[in-house]
Amino acid sequence: MILVTGGAGFIGANFALGAVRNGETVVNLDKLGYAGHLESLAALDGNPRHVFVKGDIGDRELVRKLLAQHRPRAIVHFAAESHVDRSIHGPGEFVQTNVVGTFALLEESRNFFQNHKDFRFLQVSTDEVFGSLGETDAAFTETSPYAPNSPYSASKAAADHLVRAYHHTYGLPTLISNCSNNYGPFQLPEKLIPLLIHNALAGEALPVYGDGKNVRDWLYVEDHCNALGALLERGAAGETYNIGGNSEKTNLEVVEAVCGLLDELHPRASGRYRDLVTHVKDRPGHDRRYAMDASKMRRRLGWQPAESFATGLRKTVRWYLDNAEWVRQATSGGYQDWVEKNYSVRS
Ligand code: NAD
Ligand code: TYD
Repeated sequence: MILVTGGAGFIGANFALGAVRNGETVVNLDKLGYAGHLESLAALDGNPRHVFVKGDIGDRELVRKLLAQHRPRAIVHFAAESHVDRSIHGPGEFVQTNVVGTFALLEESRNFFQNHKDFRFLQVSTDEVFGSLGETDAAFTETSPYAPNSPYSASKAAADHLVRAYHHTYGLPTLISNCSNNYGPFQLPEKLIPLLIHNALAGEALPVYGDGKNVRDWLYVEDHCNALGALLERGAAGETYNIGGNSEKTNLEVVEAVCGLLDELHPRASGRYRDLVTHVKDRPGHDRRYAMDASKMRRRLGWQPAESFATGLRKTVRWYLDNAEWVRQATSGGYQDWVEKNYSVRS
């Protein structure tokens, strides 16, 4: 039995689906904010190995009750405000959930650990805590200094520091993973890859921030989930692990790849998808390049990604073509307000 937080979001839902498929029982705590979608978990409806609880990680009484009731062997902590652009428009929520919320979980975990010594706490973090690389710099390693540049990455960095401190001070068996950009099924179309697919299919502009030469290291979400599974089983308490796809691409390369796949799998009536590309005003403080050295994961845990960018992206484009109803539901509600807010400042 594991307690997953944020398991109705993009990575958490993929993780919960995979864990239950592998025979695990999952208690899934998610507040169902704008990024949480129960539709992503529809395959688990009626499955006794999945218990969904709507609630906030900052609600300590609720967390205490769930720990006492289910006695999980681990918390896998995904719940977060996760979008850099949203953190620029409104950083307060990021501090609340990512820092104060993580603190609440740690406090309850510390109490629970007193009588459950085999318990582990896995903090799912990001490469963005390390800041930005120059074009020819070596990739981030586990010993790279933290240098976060956005309110999002700063709040994740703060949470990671708390997790680290709970290991050193209280002996809580913690693990921290720092992962690069994920893509795959169930990602809300406000992050780059699903946004490109969504806009292209709607015949709308494909907005590229600045010169489009920013570099990200892309990892297929299932590979990330498998890495987390390996970490939970075999990772060393108190340590941190970098996870990456070894797949650095400029944003323009990503746009080209998505457009090329759509031209093949779902051609436009006239013209090519790349005709929709539009350069827009850059994101303030936009990190230039992220790259992860994931050799510790390979050496210590035998993990490496199964998908290349080409194979993972093909699966992803196919998934979005086949799951228009999920996209329709995920983009109802406040989605249009967000699009107007984010892209009106860029025109
Ligand atoms: P997401 O925004 O899709 O999902 C976050 C989920 O957390 C949502 O379901 C939301 O409802 C829930 N949530 C938010 N605040 C909550 C609260 N206070 N209490 C309970 N639930 C709450 O994010 P994601 O892309 O799935 O990312 C998951 C985790 O992985 C985050 O911690 C993120 O920092 C980390 N991460 C993401 C990426 C990426 O590329 N997406 C890469 C590396 C690390
Ligand atoms: P994003 O998916 O928001 O992830 P992150 O900021 O965490 O890396 O963005 C990925 C890259 O794509 C980043 O360099 C910003 C860029 N981007 C665009 O060019 N246009 C867009 O509309 C979005 C959402 C992102």
